[in-house]
Amino acid sequence: MKNLPIRELEPGMVVAEAVYTGRGQLVIEEETVLTPELISRLSFYSIYNVNIKDTVGTQEEVPAEPGNPAAENKLPADADAAQAALEQAVLEQESSALQAALTQKLQSGALNSLTSNAFYSQKVKSQPEFLEFQITYNMEINSIKEIFDTVIKNPAVPLDFGQILNDFTELIASCRTTVALFDKLHNMRQDDDSVYAHCLNVALISRMIGKWLKLDDKERDILTLCGLFHDIGKTSIPNEILNKPDKYTDEEFALIQQHPLFSYKFLKYQPIDERIKKAALQHHERWDGSGYPQKIEGDAIDDFAAIVAIADVYDATTAARSYRPPLCPFQAISMFEKDGLSKYHPKYILTFLNRIATTYQHNRILLNNGQSANIVMINPQHLTRPMIQMNDGTVIDMLDNPDLEITKII
Ligand SMILES: [Fe+2]
Repeated sequence: MKNLPIRELEPGMVVAEAVYTGRGQLVIEEETVLTPELISRLSFYSIYNVNIKDTVGTQEEVPAEPGNPAAENKLPADADAAQAALEQAVLEQESSALQAALTQKLQSGALNSLTSNAFYSQKVKSQPEFLEFQITYNMEINSIKEIFDTVIKNPAVPLDFGQILNDFTELIASCRTTVALFDKLHNMRQDDDSVYAHCLNVALISRMIGKWLKLDDKERDILTLCGLFHDIGKTSIPNEILNKPDKYTDEEFALIQQHPLFSYKFLKYQPIDERIKKAALQHHERWDGSGYPQKIEGDAIDDFAAIVAIADVYDATTAARSYRPPLCPFQAISMFEKDGLSKYHPKYILTFLNRIATTYQHNRILLNNGQSANIVMINPQHLTRPMIQMNDGTVIDMLDNPDLEITKII
């Protein structure tokens, strides 16, 4: 056994002793064969040294070699084109185009390089950009807390919303792409599940939905503020109730259902776009009339409130809760489907789920049978049942394997 610094670790080495964070959280089990993503994970958890077995283990993955496009986590140029065609087909839900794109992808050799390409997101997570995001994100949370405290103390004093947006756009600038945003948010899940962090996440996700819907900058700014302030009323509810692991009593649930009204009351006198106030009031209303507090339905719900509703549920689902760990994006999509897509604005929910699933195309995943695989292709008709490539190279259609579930993006 030898103790090696992270920079000297290589894929294929075998971990001699289990690795834990300073807080005792297991990062890598004993006897694990290192992969590039596991090495990135060690770096992410600020672990500097690892005990490695003297004998070199079986390499699960092909080591990266200079000059090999796969080694740089890039597909060849024709594979890039194939990938673009594939994503377009997924988004447009055209099965014939999808089939053609997959064929092109197979012919381009892209499938063979998926194993290393799957580590792209891990690579992003280990980059200094992510650490910068963490710092800006935490500063923004503190600033949201101050803003909320100011409004709650005196709702009649007008806020400088231009300045709030200016501060916020710094954070947005660090999330240029969909993958960058969701990778970062996904990795912030364990850090902070406060109302302030939730509002920040919902603002970022809502803004991204606005981008997908091709809203102009001004509209997206308003949508961002809708997300940022939607749950300000939750600060009026005791944390013991908000974080309660057990079922709510009738009285507690009645109080929780009041929070959109509290949010609205805090924002009522602010000189802001009415849609920001409506998002606060209506983000728990549902398209089929099953929401609260007013039980309005369909077009009676403001468009921006309908978008914030989706971002809100997605963030709540993928965040850690006292009674369960964070769910992965595919489990979140499943929950939307189980919850009933008819509860959400039909155009917005389809755009959102398609985009989320496509974002995680080519990521490495953990299955409920303990095996890992790469997502090869999203099925636009069954977003949680993609085609996946196992470690031995075989490609499985999850639609034909109903017992398999994706439990984690790794
Ligand atoms: Fe809410």
